[in-house]
Amino acid sequence: MTNVMKPGMARIFPSSTEVNERVEALLKRMSLEEKIGQLNQVGGAEFSPGPKAEDQIRRGGAGSVLWLNNTTRFNELQKIAVEESPSGIPLLFALDVIHGYRTIFPVPLAMASSWDPAVPEKSQSVAAREARAAGLHWTFGPMLDIARDARWGRIVEGAGEDPYLGAAMAAAQVRGFQGDDLSDPERVLACAKHFAGYGAADGGRDYDPVYLSEAQLRNTYLPPFEAAVKAGVATFMSAYMDLNNVPASANRFLLRQVLRQEWGFEGFVVSDAFAVGNLVIQGHARDRRDAALRGLKAGLNMDMSSYTYPENLASLVADGALSEAEIEEMARPILALKVKMGLFEQPYVNENLLEQVVARPEHRQMARWAAQRSMVLLRNEGGLLPLKKDLQKVAVIGPLADSMESTEGSWMVFGHKPAAVTVLQGIRARLTGAQVTYAPGPEIRRDIPSWFEGAMAGFTSKPAQTPEEGEAAFQAAVETARAAELVVMVLGETDLMAGEAASRASLDLPGRQEELLKAVAGLGKPIVLVLLNGRPLSVNWAAEHIPAILEAWEPGSEGGHAVADILFGDVNPGGKLPVSFPRKGSHAPLYYARNLTHSPEGSPMYNPRYWDGLPVPLYPFGYGLSYTTFEFSNLKVSAPQVKVGGSLAVSVDVTNSGKVTGDEVAQLYIHQRWGSDSRPLRELKGFERLKLQPGETKTVTFHLGPDELRYWSTNTGGWIQEAAAFDIWVGADSMAKLHADFEIVG
Ligand code: BGC
Repeated sequence: MTNVMKPGMARIFPSSTEVNERVEALLKRMSLEEKIGQLNQVGGAEFSPGPKAEDQIRRGGAGSVLWLNNTTRFNELQKIAVEESPSGIPLLFALDVIHGYRTIFPVPLAMASSWDPAVPEKSQSVAAREARAAGLHWTFGPMLDIARDARWGRIVEGAGEDPYLGAAMAAAQVRGFQGDDLSDPERVLACAKHFAGYGAADGGRDYDPVYLSEAQLRNTYLPPFEAAVKAGVATFMSAYMDLNNVPASANRFLLRQVLRQEWGFEGFVVSDAFAVGNLVIQGHARDRRDAALRGLKAGLNMDMSSYTYPENLASLVADGALSEAEIEEMARPILALKVKMGLFEQPYVNENLLEQVVARPEHRQMARWAAQRSMVLLRNEGGLLPLKKDLQKVAVIGPLADSMESTEGSWMVFGHKPAAVTVLQGIRARLTGAQVTYAPGPEIRRDIPSWFEGAMAGFTSKPAQTPEEGEAAFQAAVETARAAELVVMVLGETDLMAGEAASRASLDLPGRQEELLKAVAGLGKPIVLVLLNGRPLSVNWAAEHIPAILEAWEPGSEGGHAVADILFGDVNPGGKLPVSFPRKGSHAPLYYARNLTHSPEGSPMYNPRYWDGLPVPLYPFGYGLSYTTFEFSNLKVSAPQVKVGGSLAVSVDVTNSGKVTGDEVAQLYIHQRWGSDSRPLRELKGFERLKLQPGETKTVTFHLGPDELRYWSTNTGGWIQEAAAFDIWVGADSMAKLHADFEIVG
């Protein structure tokens, strides 16, 4: 292939005038069909509908290709686009690279548990480097949907329940994928998805409609998206579902008013898969032609594989329903990004690059570091952890203990071969002289299989275990545990139990896992529970009876080593939950930033909210333990009063009061006591992860300015900052008790 980017070649930095001139010159020589072609994203997978990809590309009818992960094929298709299509416009190759391409990082929910934006930023920069070396230009990430309902399967792909933490993680991921120069040959375009509100699906059921007031939308669901725009995200993806009765893919309020007019976004928007065509199924468009018209008019640039645009836009222009200028308006940002990336100069990928890039040792090191920083210690009674390194006989038990798929987690790129270090392998590597036995116990599987499971496994699936086989596996696990001096149970959910089309009504450990946990606990041995899962689980029994619990999430390629690093004390865990853990699935949605009611908190007259169990979280937002202890003291606010529009500083001392070095996340919460609208009980407005030596004290200073103190008000219909009194709490989680207050005056 010619035009391959050589190491050391100068990057291209086209100025925006130069980009605009080149885009206008291209548009001048392109036919209407080619302009529409830029708005069409072609499926490269076997299941993709529509005409053959090559044919569409050859006539200039495709702007991008997705669901293809084959470097040689990328170059073949690119050659058709560049050398055989009328205007020779290069294609953008796109794929879901959600938490790693070959080197797999913790799932995004886990990365958010690090409360350290450097974790997603560095992880996604490695993902970008590997993906780009494979020939990809564009990833469908980060996923920025706030999720307050743990039943919703896609909670695993985002940063959890909080807009402030979510915004920090959003910006970090955009920086990681894109860097600060779109022509950097080690970066990819990012895509902020799913715009917007998808995480608030009715009942946590994936794809179901969403009803959110404008205040909820703007105060809670949109901030991560706005943060992505501020970080320079190149593209957006519209969500599938109805938002307040208007499908997100044809939603002018979202796509034109908020995204373009208010936030000044200059990139392009792609629909979710088949979503433009689905406007008909959704009961919004009369037919596919009407769907194309509605999508385009709403400001949706690119049709992801429903072929509604290429089939209908030309005739809509011919009939005068659309103008060619409207098509050009949609094509312009797509062409501009291709220019900015330097694709016209280097459309091809060096087919030998990927293997060199993935062999870089720092990629696996980074994955291990990210996993270590993402894990959350939920319980450690009697200081069972860290474990002694001279253990002789350890049993590792559970269906996930040796599962590479569940260690890597949901959303692998097409054709990915799992290669994770499992928890069993990680412990074996650590205890080389000891006997480490293993028994999986009964298998776990979904009651209703996932379509994705079929698609990934070529539509073949292993027959289910019979009840007799399950019982034999159960007994074998108990016997294996009986022979050991200490047991590590690895339980949770498989990779396909969270993610798209993976919502569930219960948050209990699936299958016979809790029964097995109880049976093993009955043996009276010390037990450590390691959870591998992509959503909060209501592990109520374990939280009372199992002395040590580590939330390892879906930790990626190096997950097993990272678990062993923590269990044996080489790393002190410092992650914190980015979501509340409900005690029951039926308590969802459950989140800390709720509003107060008319009755005082805890009043016996009106509380509890349910009479069959308190809907207080099992583990609150922001929670996580360490092998050391921390004290917060000396909370100071720079001024007791500040004028509307002013700022103040809040400082606190954090001391490591224990015996080992450890990390603490200082968290700042505020509450506005009165105003035009009721405000949440607490809202996170600052955080910082610190490393402290034993006895060491550090002072953390937070800044509270107009951005932190404003909100979108239902009563006034706009953003306001009001004169009112505020509470402040600073501490180690959302239940922090150290309190101060201040007032904003008019
Ligand atoms: C998902 C998106 C994804 C797209 C492309 C859809 O089913 O909702 O998150 O990016 O497919 O694979």
